[in-house]
Amino acid sequence: MIGIIGAMDEEVAQIVEAMQVTKTEEKAQMTFHQGTLGGKDVVVVRSGIGKVNAAVCTQILVDDFGADAVINTGIAGSLKAEIDIADVVISSDVLHHDMDATGFGYALGQIPRMDTLSFPADKRLIELAEKSCKKAVPEIGVHVGRVVSGDQFVSDKEVKNRISENFDGYCTEMEGAAIAQAAYLNHIPFVILRAISDKADDSATMDYPTFEKQAIHNSVLLIKELVANI
Ligand code: ADE
Repeated sequence: MIGIIGAMDEEVAQIVEAMQVTKTEEKAQMTFHQGTLGGKDVVVVRSGIGKVNAAVCTQILVDDFGADAVINTGIAGSLKAEIDIADVVISSDVLHHDMDATGFGYALGQIPRMDTLSFPADKRLIELAEKSCKKAVPEIGVHVGRVVSGDQFVSDKEVKNRISENFDGYCTEMEGAAIAQAAYLNHIPFVILRAISDKADDSATMDYPTFEKQAIHNSVLLIKELVANI
């Protein structure tokens, strides 16, 4: 079974509409929609925003629904000039940009006493996502690169520049690293797919509502194509 997580209702509503729902269950204030999408067994769920919600959600998918892979779909702020609004970023790897134990000699972003700085996404899912993107939304740019996550909506050029310099991320959002970490701990494959809604700078709070719908539309087309091809 493939777990599909979106942070917000807007991000999962169209996926739920496209699937055949067999059962709906509430847990931890989240609604888990079980059924099939493109002939594949899936559970689609809105986790809520931020890393704690996303981690709790992923663990429930593993423990209670037997997820053997997790896909996170949603929107993000671009961290690179060449990654435009509406483009899609597929995670090569994911890290927490707000984790800082540098005082103990750890690299910025690394969780103390864990053996990795970033969590690598599954190679097969990355390749399938890239192919699916080119097929489902051929007119938009696809980028495979690092996704960085924090409990922070980035809407300030200086904050954006600092995050970019520290991590060489392609986009920033608020759940991916938590989902990636939970998947890593449970030894299951994952990939994060994000359509760009803003540039994570001073215009982000204005661009976000304008481009949110278009970005969500692109990520829904992509997820449907990807799941059908898994
Ligand atoms: N999701 C969409 N845009 C974002 C931003 N600028 N920062 C964090 N999460 C986001």
